[in-house]
Amino acid sequence: MEQSTIFGHPKGLFVLFFTEMWERFSFYGMRAILVLYLVAETTAQNPGLGWSNTEALTLYGWYGMLVYMMSIPGGLMADRWLGQKKSILVGGVLIILGQFTLAIDDINAFYTGLILVICGVGALKPNISTMVGGLYKKGDIKRDAGFTIFYIGINIGALLAPLLVGYYGEKVNWHLGFSLAGFGMILGQIVYVFGGKYLKGVGDSHKASVESAELMKKPLNKIEKDRMVVLFLAFLIMIVFWGAYEQAGGFMNLYAKQSVDRVMFGYEIPASWLQSLHAFYVVLIGVPMAAFWLWWKKKGKESSSIFKMAIGTIVMGFGFMALMGAAWEVSISALEQASIYWLLLSYLLHVVGELSSSPVALSFITKLAPMKYASFMMGAYFAVTGLGNKLASEIGKAAEELGAMEVFTAVTIFCIAFGLLLLLFVKKLNALSHGAEEETLGDIAEVEA
Ligand code: PHE
Repeated sequence: MEQSTIFGHPKGLFVLFFTEMWERFSFYGMRAILVLYLVAETTAQNPGLGWSNTEALTLYGWYGMLVYMMSIPGGLMADRWLGQKKSILVGGVLIILGQFTLAIDDINAFYTGLILVICGVGALKPNISTMVGGLYKKGDIKRDAGFTIFYIGINIGALLAPLLVGYYGEKVNWHLGFSLAGFGMILGQIVYVFGGKYLKGVGDSHKASVESAELMKKPLNKIEKDRMVVLFLAFLIMIVFWGAYEQAGGFMNLYAKQSVDRVMFGYEIPASWLQSLHAFYVVLIGVPMAAFWLWWKKKGKESSSIFKMAIGTIVMGFGFMALMGAAWEVSISALEQASIYWLLLSYLLHVVGELSSSPVALSFITKLAPMKYASFMMGAYFAVTGLGNKLASEIGKAAEELGAMEVFTAVTIFCIAFGLLLLLFVKKLNALSHGAEEETLGDIAEVEA
């Protein structure tokens, strides 16, 4: 099938890019104001629910976990029943309904809205990522770059949402904020429906053909089982990665507020603005990073996914080394404050690590997962991300108790050592993926025979 392209990538990629951008806009917008809404006084000018901090954080924790856990049923729904394309539509409609239900000022509407959003994200997020993979042929070296472009879409949504939804929600009216996210989702779904012509033959239900129904019944062969093992290992790497990275919203947020001198050019930057920093960096260096990895591959250097994930973990370790610098400055300065530049450098390194591993992990899953578990494995990966978030909050709590320097040092050493260990085993692990990443189909056919 000859596909029409933009910048050398299938046009369908840009349809998925915009759909996912608005989904993330809704997700991160919600994330930016949820806790603030919960704790706002009931008597305030813009009244909230008047909860305590602990109550709010508990609900937030459940929300963050469930929203990713629901990716498992979301993936299964696509594999077993609807296919990814229709599941995304179902998810999108649920999110829209959820956001507008949240716009109603009523406690029952609030819970109903949250549940709708959780189910909607579960149906949409893993399946749209799987569909990106479906746009590329087996062995197409553009696949990883395609995922990076898609990833930039995610982060444009993540960058704008706290600014817009955050501003209107917090300063004007919470429910206006929630509905803003709903309007964004409507736009995303319009693009998706009208862009459907660029997604022909991708993400359809497997039930469509008798042939694929046969395929679905077959048990996994040795190669597929080996590939599942590598995938589970990749999940483990990503738990470590997100466990370090996701401290940004928790412990690092408090650290920035309490121990960092945030005055730049005579203006004190609000700690919460640093929440947009990761996304900002992704948008800024996403394209050069993808170009770098493609150039690296074309030079014939080692560039398997496991290799890139290992490098990402090591760079993450260096990011924490920069934080050790901050903790050191806090310990020697009279005001017990660190310069903000440590944080700016650290977050930049986090994102270099992220761009080496996270889009690659998505891409890798679409290469390795057996067809009949394609969406399920993606769903499982998102559930794993939920665990990484949980790990991050535990590490953050440890830092509160043991001290920042100790924990930054531990994370630095662990990430670098773990990454180096992986590098030692890259060849072995690549062998277990049985050529799933090779460029030529010939090799694969050979192995599979
Ligand atoms: N910024 C990424 C996103 O919102 C973080 C993430 C990666 C979340 C992988 C889930 C899984 O998509």
